[in-house]
Amino acid sequence: KGKRAFIAGVADDNGYGWAIAKSLAAAGAEILVGTWVPALNIFESSLRRGKFDESRVLPDGSLMEITKVYPLDAVFDNHEDVPEDIKTNKRYAGSSKWTVQEVAESVKEDFGSIDILVHSLANGPEVTKPLLETSRKGYLAALSASSYSYVSLLKHFLPILNPGGSSISLTYIASERIIPGYGGGMSSAKAALESDTRVLAFEAGRKRKIRVNTISAGPLRSRAAKAIGFIDMMIDYSLANAPLQKELSAEEVGNAAAFLASPLASAITGTVLYVDNGLNAMGVGI
Ligand code: NAI
Repeated sequence: KGKRAFIAGVADDNGYGWAIAKSLAAAGAEILVGTWVPALNIFESSLRRGKFDESRVLPDGSLMEITKVYPLDAVFDNHEDVPEDIKTNKRYAGSSKWTVQEVAESVKEDFGSIDILVHSLANGPEVTKPLLETSRKGYLAALSASSYSYVSLLKHFLPILNPGGSSISLTYIASERIIPGYGGGMSSAKAALESDTRVLAFEAGRKRKIRVNTISAGPLRSRAAKAIGFIDMMIDYSLANAPLQKELSAEEVGNAAAFLASPLASAITGTVLYVDNGLNAMGVGI
């Protein structure tokens, strides 16, 4: 039987989430996505109007189908957590049941279970500030949106993840090496995400035979990356210095995710898999 995937963090056709959805769809999976509430309307209307049709084309010529789009804000775990100003914010008021717990409940109601959980989201309001200039609030917001959001997603989806299933997140090498410009606590958030990948692999493995891995991806000109402001420099740096001198395509990360989600990776859990043209292995730029 075909597998079902829930991919959190898809709001356009430029990011890693979209590419992962495509690779999983190409491998025969049914696709559900979670879209950040403020981006929901534009994403759904663009989908409906055919704006993404070109990027929906799969290798066999068919178009990727997204069975359902769920509104999601992964910084809120349940309805009681949502502050009044968000509840009444007009970008949120039009949607309901978008906290992590409610989304997991809705997916359970609609489909019963899933096989693959993907976390492809991050947010750091002070990402452009060096760590020394980052406020406590900004730092904790980066951790909340980019690290705890994954703990929360896995926790709430674990009961409906079929045993043998797989969970994947996206990380960045700024967690372990100095990447000036990746600020606001985002480097810290990725370090937490990678450490949590190991602990969660143990806990979810023992509890439900679920594998937990993270992909350390090279630079991609996504919406989120453009907001950081140094993405073109990072792409040029990789082109100049990585063992493989080609621009990384989102599809290459999507294909690695499809591998990790497949039975071909049945003994792989708790790992950080680099999909970066090998840049991580370099010691100096040349
Ligand atoms: P993207 O902009 O396509 O994806 C980020 C998504 O997160 C967006 O759809 C945004 O709406 C969503 N989001 C933000 N806050 C949210 C919240 N509170 N609740 C739900 N959704 C929320 O950008 P990209 O770059 O594809 O990011 C996906 C993942 O890949 C992130 O974890 C990012 O850190 C990681 N990554 C990106 C790299 C790059 O160069 N683009 C390199 C290495 C890792």
